[in-house]
Amino acid sequence: MLGPVILAASRSDRMRRLISAAPVTKQVVDRFIPGETVDDVVPIIEELTGRGLELTMDVVGEDITTPEQAFAARDAYLALVGRLGELELGERVEMSVKLSMFGQALDGGHELAVANVRPVVEAAAAIGTTVTLDAEDHTTLDSMFAVHEELRKDFPQTGCVIQAYLFRTEADARRLAASGSRVRLVKGAYKEPAEVAHQDRHEIDKAYVRILRTLMEGEGYPMIGSHDPRLISIGQELARKAGRKPDEYEFQMLYGIRSDEHLRLAAEGHRMRVYTAYGTDWYGYFMRRLAEKPANLRFFARSMVSK
Ligand code: FDA
Repeated sequence: MLGPVILAASRSDRMRRLISAAPVTKQVVDRFIPGETVDDVVPIIEELTGRGLELTMDVVGEDITTPEQAFAARDAYLALVGRLGELELGERVEMSVKLSMFGQALDGGHELAVANVRPVVEAAAAIGTTVTLDAEDHTTLDSMFAVHEELRKDFPQTGCVIQAYLFRTEADARRLAASGSRVRLVKGAYKEPAEVAHQDRHEIDKAYVRILRTLMEGEGYPMIGSHDPRLISIGQELARKAGRKPDEYEFQMLYGIRSDEHLRLAAEGHRMRVYTAYGTDWYGYFMRRLAEKPANLRFFARSMVSK
């Protein structure tokens, strides 16, 4: 029951101001968002890649309101690509972007988002890596898929995310699998109405398995974005049945969540990519992590009371 309330708060400016200003928030935030600048996260990139993990880096931010903020998002990602180039890690470290941070919801949003994200995708390709477009709420997805298709004409490695909770996703998965795309499948993290999305956890899990089967049997590169132990073992089984080799799919999990499992899967010879977010505009990302697990909220509340 708490999840939807927290997700509603994730879109409230008043709650954003209250929570961001609380002095203890930062300790809890650090568990999921381990830095504010590229310099903060370079040691983490080096440590995790040194342990056999791969990464996808996210500069946090979303729902911007001016074109200047979109240019700033582009520049923040270009600065990141610059540092990744120096580290020479190639595709072991890719990037995830939210198009709402690149101007998607503003006037002329499609063109603005493409114009801002394209230089990042180009720069990523120049250092041997790529970009994945995150999935935001359902109203943004037609636009995200259109940007994805456009970018793939020149950069076919550009990936995208699909969400198992949405009814539309089974059809999206068939189309993307046939097109040979890189696709990350996740359960879905936004508050969505019953007209467009499954509300029942078991229905979401069942849809996840059906969609993953489509991706595994298709032409593309499936990325299994989940911490759910059951889905992870089903993913392994589906990959085996589809005759995929270990480098023909990968697992992905979020930084700070089930970290032992990241290492276990990598040690077993799987490609394991850790989604690592950093930056100052962490509110929306952080609130979605709280909503996913009510115990996180209790920990957060306790640390506020104990101060
Ligand atoms: P589930 O929520 O059932 O969790 C399984 C277990 O994992 C839990 O029992 C718990 O142990 C642990 N766990 C999960 N979340 C936790 C948390 N926040 N804190 C502590 N423990 C937790 N969504 C989206 O809408 N668009 C996107 O682009 C992305 N991108 C993305 C990338 C990657 C790499 C991942 C792993 C996830 C996303 N998501 C996302 C988020 C996704 O939609 C979903 O909300 C979370 O992954 C939680 O779902 P699980 O599949 O992990 O299962």
